[in-house]
Amino acid sequence: MAVDIITPALYEARGFPDEDLRRLRHESPVHWHEDPHSQVPGFWAVTKYADVVHVSRHPELFSSHARTSMFEEFADEDVALYQLMMLFMDPPQHTRQRAFVNRGFTPRMIKQLEEHIRDVGHRLIDGVVTRGEACFVRDIAAPFPLYVICELIGAPVEDREQIFSWSNVLVGSNDPEYATSPEDAREVSAQVLQYAHELAARRRHQPRDDIATSLLEPDADGNRLSADEFAMFILLLLIAGNETTRNGASGGMLAFFQHPDQWRRLIRNRGLIRTTADEVVRWVSPVNLFRRTALHDTELRGRRIREGDKVVMFYSSANRDEDVFEDPYTFDIGRDPNPHIGFGGGGPHFCLGTHLARLELTVLFELLLDRMPDIRQAGEARRLRSNFINGIKEMPVRFTPAE
Ligand code: HEM
Repeated sequence: MAVDIITPALYEARGFPDEDLRRLRHESPVHWHEDPHSQVPGFWAVTKYADVVHVSRHPELFSSHARTSMFEEFADEDVALYQLMMLFMDPPQHTRQRAFVNRGFTPRMIKQLEEHIRDVGHRLIDGVVTRGEACFVRDIAAPFPLYVICELIGAPVEDREQIFSWSNVLVGSNDPEYATSPEDAREVSAQVLQYAHELAARRRHQPRDDIATSLLEPDADGNRLSADEFAMFILLLLIAGNETTRNGASGGMLAFFQHPDQWRRLIRNRGLIRTTADEVVRWVSPVNLFRRTALHDTELRGRRIREGDKVVMFYSSANRDEDVFEDPYTFDIGRDPNPHIGFGGGGPHFCLGTHLARLELTVLFELLLDRMPDIRQAGEARRLRSNFINGIKEMPVRFTPAE
């Protein structure tokens, strides 16, 4: 069956390939995909919700270990370093580190950030509101989560621009506009790690009430992160907490432009803000896919998966699965329940930033409703050339400030 579900330029042109993913779900839900013209090695494409959940929840069968969760392999010399990053660990190593960092990301800890998140949003809107026009991505959606992460780790305001440009390189898409070679990414990773080591030294010397400080202290059982693990965690936060929320916000705004009835519905019924963020994450699926490696021979929906095979979970497809969602192709901000798996299929790697991302998206859409309710699209939304992140890199908007 001929489908094209990985060519980055296709994602740039049309967003994720809905039609091909739908065909796979119906005709070949666990599908061996191999394209001799592509550099991407063959893999099993898993497109049904139940199967993505199964793969996510069985790390003893489907490993996240170093080589790697995306299509690009790490260079040999980088593998040892990336093995210290939670995203590329398996239990029990992962379990230990995850338990340790979880305490910084509980709903209670995140709730404490709400005022700050609101403040960041207000300041960004202050910067553009009287102009009447802006680039939604550059001026609002991109700096918003970045400034929140900077606050979270206690990075000083004057470092934000530097951290912003590092994070753009690190996401390392296939987009020539950001054209990051593996060498660029390696150099920037080294700079971020150096920065994180300096941050750790400052916090040890002068503790503050921030997550960085709490992650440097041992937990009740005396566990602590090594200096390198701490630095890799900061690097992970900059990657995982930025591009995702940025594209949730931009893709969500675009969804409202394409479904103006839903924006009007939200203006009329502000209570629907409670379910809006999750529908935005389902609809946009900012993280399109993650890859695992089979540790043993196993079977999925009758297909024989061999030890060492790569298995790719398409969250974007699972979030449109007709067996789970009523009218999956309808953007419905009142959808409740909404068991989407945009934050992962519920296994050990389930997104650490779920509560934070939900809060950020909720606050941002609330502020936009309050301060520029007539926001409208004023030009083409240009998409990112990437099969990993469902991203928008530019989206001109116009608005008039609310009275
Ligand atoms: C992991 C999505 C925001 C931190 C993940 C995973 C997904 C995801 C799909 C992998 C789950 C799995 O393998 O089962 C998203 C989306 C976001 C978002 C769609 C925004 C709309 C954030 C934020 C942060 C964050 C704001 C940080 C503050 C992480 C971390 C991991 C992760 C650290 C790795 C967890 C682990 O390996 O145990 N995210 N994320 N994410 N996310 Fe998020």
